[in-house]
Amino acid sequence: MPAKTAKELKRRRRDLARAIGADGVLIVPAAREVTRNRDVHYPFRQSSDFAWLTGFPEPDAVAVLAPKHKEGELVLFCRPRDPEREVWDGYRFGTEGAVEHFDADAAHPLAELDEKLPELLADRERVYYPLGVDADFDLKVMGWLRAVRGKARKGVSAPTELVTSDALLHERRLIKSKRELATMRRAAGISAAAHRRLMQTCRPGLGEQQLEATFLHACAERGARFQAYPPIVGGGANACVLHYVENADTLRDGDLVLVDAGCELDGYASDITRTFPVNGRFTAPQRTLYELVLAAQRAAIAAVKPGKRWDAPHKAALKVLTRGLVDLGLIEGSRDDVPQLIKDEKYKPFYMHRTGHWLGMDVHDVGSYKQDGKWRPLAPGMVLTVEPGLYVAPDAEAPAEYRGIGIRIEDDVLVTADGHEVLSRDVPKDVEAIERLMAAGGPESAPATTPQSHREP
Ligand code: GLY
Ligand code: MN
Ligand code: MN
Repeated sequence: MPAKTAKELKRRRRDLARAIGADGVLIVPAAREVTRNRDVHYPFRQSSDFAWLTGFPEPDAVAVLAPKHKEGELVLFCRPRDPEREVWDGYRFGTEGAVEHFDADAAHPLAELDEKLPELLADRERVYYPLGVDADFDLKVMGWLRAVRGKARKGVSAPTELVTSDALLHERRLIKSKRELATMRRAAGISAAAHRRLMQTCRPGLGEQQLEATFLHACAERGARFQAYPPIVGGGANACVLHYVENADTLRDGDLVLVDAGCELDGYASDITRTFPVNGRFTAPQRTLYELVLAAQRAAIAAVKPGKRWDAPHKAALKVLTRGLVDLGLIEGSRDDVPQLIKDEKYKPFYMHRTGHWLGMDVHDVGSYKQDGKWRPLAPGMVLTVEPGLYVAPDAEAPAEYRGIGIRIEDDVLVTADGHEVLSRDVPKDVEAIERLMAAGGPESAPATTPQSHREP
């Protein structure tokens, strides 16, 4: 782990330890390996909470933060070194590595969890852990509590309060440090380059799957091997299915294509959507709806600044979209009716999701959206997406020229001290800029045929 990262993690734990106090204890489990089929696993992804707290990359581990404990504040349980297994499955840090490289004050093999955990819970009043997230882990915690209670006659007192660790960890994760922001800038930059490459190589006859492949390749060759979520590549009316991930159709001349894709870099997500014409030129109705979504997105981004409430961007987008839908005849009424039309959610048949979410280690990142029943104010260091859209389903009650058009434009936006910074600004979104980039083409073009599925011999 780089020295600066190690220092930051130590600072986090010190701050957490102060918040928990000497009468509390925090337990955070790592992610587990999950079987995909028979003896093949899904690619392992560490739990974001666990990574944020420890930086330890291996599965199945458990971290305990016990402020002022005699054994030390951070105790890690992990897989022990095992030269024979390591020949097959790769290097393990083991307990020695957990202490040496991850600043654990003590580390024990996983086999000692049931013996050691009750000792760490002894004489503490509160246990913080991710309550109700993993039923198996809930059971384990209950077992450890039972074991501490079993020692009552020896004068050991057992915790009386179980507290979910969400608020403790997630409110801190919501505010990103300089180092985290540098990583998020790089993640957004890589995804932006990959989106630009799609604009440069797209043409009629390509498969949605080929755009997906180009995106994955462009990210991977820049160092981002994993995606923050499965890419959505929807040509034509497929764009009206919000989480379309089949990516199995051929892209048609005259259609738009919506690409919602973002890489993960060093554990941090990016999340970008662009919608552009398959053949490089917007038709008049496509351009009309596109420019409406773009105006809504710009208005929403303008509402991102410290002190504005979480829903300010959403409200700004709704105002622009609803007025535009009235002007185009997709919603009945006049401009004077817009406030009431918004109250009545008349935009819902064409815009059914909200305008964004927190972004960080998780694509839909943690942190509450409300405080004391009100949308919380934005503050420097928060990162959110701004992603309005319009989706006119093929069977929608709408003029024929708009049916089957789905558009979303999504950027990643950091709240700064005096406004905002668009982390994903390097992908064009103006009609002219997109058409110019698409006309210029790129150095690399994908084959013009849709890949055939093939079977192993
Ligand atoms: N890519 C998922 C989302 O935009 O929320
Ligand atoms: Mn998003
Ligand atoms: Mn997205």
